[in-house]
Amino acid sequence: MNRKVTVVGGAGNVGATVARAIADKELADVVIIDIADQKAAGVALDMLEACPIEMSDSRVVGYGATDEGWAQTANSDVVVITSGVPRKPGMSRDDLLNVNYKIMQSVTEQIVRHSPKTIIVPVANPLDAMCQAVYRLSKFPRERVIGMAGVLDSARMRTFIAMETGVSVENIHAFVLGGHGDTMVPLARYSTIAGIPLPDFPGMTADKIAAISKRTADGGAEITKLVGTSAWYAPGSAAAEMVEIILKDKKKIVPCSVFLQGEYGINGLFVGVPVKLGARGVEQIIQIKLTPEEDAALKKSAGAVKELVDVIKV
Ligand code: 2OP
Repeated sequence: MNRKVTVVGGAGNVGATVARAIADKELADVVIIDIADQKAAGVALDMLEACPIEMSDSRVVGYGATDEGWAQTANSDVVVITSGVPRKPGMSRDDLLNVNYKIMQSVTEQIVRHSPKTIIVPVANPLDAMCQAVYRLSKFPRERVIGMAGVLDSARMRTFIAMETGVSVENIHAFVLGGHGDTMVPLARYSTIAGIPLPDFPGMTADKIAAISKRTADGGAEITKLVGTSAWYAPGSAAAEMVEIILKDKKKIVPCSVFLQGEYGINGLFVGVPVKLGARGVEQIIQIKLTPEEDAALKKSAGAVKELVDVIKV
């Protein structure tokens, strides 16, 4: 195929889900890079063997994170970064930040060397801080570093709205702003069911909206508690949707973590806001008018991101 997407950490749960979705939809050839080199080769071969069934001519290959492996990623159209370690017992948030920052350093260096014109979609956590690290390290324009969080968080909110109302998810739009963490800001009045703002939908109450918003903000933790590790199906689908929008130049508006330079009164930080995505990456940052309460919640969320980026000094 004439498109190439690299998934770094592609032998892991999230990475493999992204890679598989891209191959299933025949969006591009896929290169999986993973420090688990044999697993990368095996996972890629397994996906490739599924392609005849899915009627896809995507070529999927997997390599270790060696110079030879990285050479195969040359001139990728999009690179998704799913590598990074989860927090382990005894590890502070700062420890996790520093470990994952080091991973971003080595990964970003290789991406810039082999695909200087690519668009990078970081998925590693803590998401907004890792985006900021990749942005600073790559020195790419802000249009080409786009964090995956809002697509996932709004998919979770859509799920919970559908569960509450019994309406098809196809009818439901949801908007979640802010950092990918406890302080994220689900925006009920911009979330709609068949075009009807959520608060106006028959039977909807403030208590129900509060419960949906809370469950959305706690969505990652809910899965982690049930499964014993971080989620991967919804995060993988969310990252794959961003790749599809970019490769097809769809100009779809989705919430993503982007480097704000004064938009929403926030300067020099990655925070989730609605953006128009296309072949050039971030093609427009959509600014909507917030109520004073929403604005305060967004600023609080940005403050939480700032605390993290200050630790790694990016
Ligand atoms: C999630 O929200 C861990 O960021 C991941 O599921």
